[in-house]
Amino acid sequence: MWPLIFILITSALADNCSHIFNDRNYTKSAILTIKGLPTNLVYNPKSKDLLFTLIDLETLQNQEVQTKMDQYVLRYGEPIKIDNINGQSAAVDVKNNIVYIASDNGLNILNKTDRAIHIGYKDDIVQIFKPQNSDDIYAVLFPDNEVYKLDLINEEKERIENIPCAFIIAVDDNGNIFYECEAKYVKVLLKGFQESIEFVGLPKNSARAVSMDDNNRVILASNDGLYWLKPDNMIPKKLMDLDYVPAGIAFNGDNFYISTTEMIYEYNPCI
Ligand SMILES: *[C@@H]1O[C@H](CO)[C@@H](O)[C@H](O)[C@H]1NC(C)=O
Ligand SMILES: *[C@@H]1O[C@H](CO)[C@@H](O)[C@H](O)[C@H]1NC(C)=O
Ligand SMILES: *[C@@H]1O[C@H](CO)[C@@H](O)[C@H](O)[C@H]1NC(C)=O
Repeated sequence: MWPLIFILITSALADNCSHIFNDRNYTKSAILTIKGLPTNLVYNPKSKDLLFTLIDLETLQNQEVQTKMDQYVLRYGEPIKIDNINGQSAAVDVKNNIVYIASDNGLNILNKTDRAIHIGYKDDIVQIFKPQNSDDIYAVLFPDNEVYKLDLINEEKERIENIPCAFIIAVDDNGNIFYECEAKYVKVLLKGFQESIEFVGLPKNSARAVSMDDNNRVILASNDGLYWLKPDNMIPKKLMDLDYVPAGIAFNGDNFYISTTEMIYEYNPCI
C-alpha cells in the first residue's frame, strides 16, 4: 500500500455563485484533498487529466534536507502517482498529444500506462513550459534557475540570456516570456527585445504561479488574487480576489483550477 494519506471528496462541495472572476460569477468546489502542497497545475484537454506536482511540506520547511516532490495525474477524481521518476513539473503538447514530465534527471514523456519514459537530457529540470502554438519548449534548470529553450531533436539547449532566473514562467503565442525571478518582481521579456519590462503595482514576493488561459491571456496567481498580465501594459488587470494563498493555476476553457495547501479547487462559471 502507498504510505500516502489522502481523502477523496467524491461529492463536489460546490458553493453558490459568489466568486467573481473577470466580472463573471463562479462556483468553487474542492475536487481534491491531499497531504502536501499541490503545485505546477497543468490541464490536458485531450485526456481531461489534471497534472500536478505534490510538494512534501515537512521537507520544504526543513533547510537540511532536499525538498521531496512527486508528479501526479488527477484522473476522474483520483490522484495517480508517477512513481518511476522524481517528477518536478509537467507540460502538455496538445497538438501532438504528448505529456512531458521534467525530473531531476532530465526530460521524460508519459506513456499510455502512466510510466515516465526518459527521452533526453541529464539536467535537473525544475520547471517546464510548452506554448501551444509553437514547437518550442522551455525549461528552468537547477541550481540557478536559468531558462533554456530546448531543441529535442538534437538534444541541445539554448540559454535565454536576458532572463537571469525564473521560478515561475509562461510564454504566450507571440513568444513573449513572462517570469518571476527571486521573488522580487514579475517581468516580461518581449519577443525580439533585450531588456525585460517589470509589471507595476504587484506586492513583492507575492507571485505564486502563472498560466495561459484558452484566449492566450497570461494569468498570474498571486497572494491576493488573479491578475491578467498583458504584454503591452505595465499595469496588470485584476480579475479576481482570493482569500487563500494559491500555489498553482490551470485553465480548461471557462473553467479553471487553483491549488493551495492540501487542496485543489475547481471554479465553474454560473451559466
Ligand atoms: C450561498 O451564499 C450565501 C450568501 O453568501 C451563504 O449564506 C450560503 O451559505 C451559501 N450557500 C452555500 C451552499 O455555500
Ligand atoms: C454574483 O456574485 C456577487 C458577489 O458575491 C453576488 O452578490 C451576486 O448575487 C452573484 N450573482 C449571481 C447571479 O449569483
Ligand atoms: C509504459 O512503459 C512501461 C515501462 O517502460 C512499460 O512496462 C509499459 O509496457 C509501457 N506501456 C505502454 C502502453 O507502452
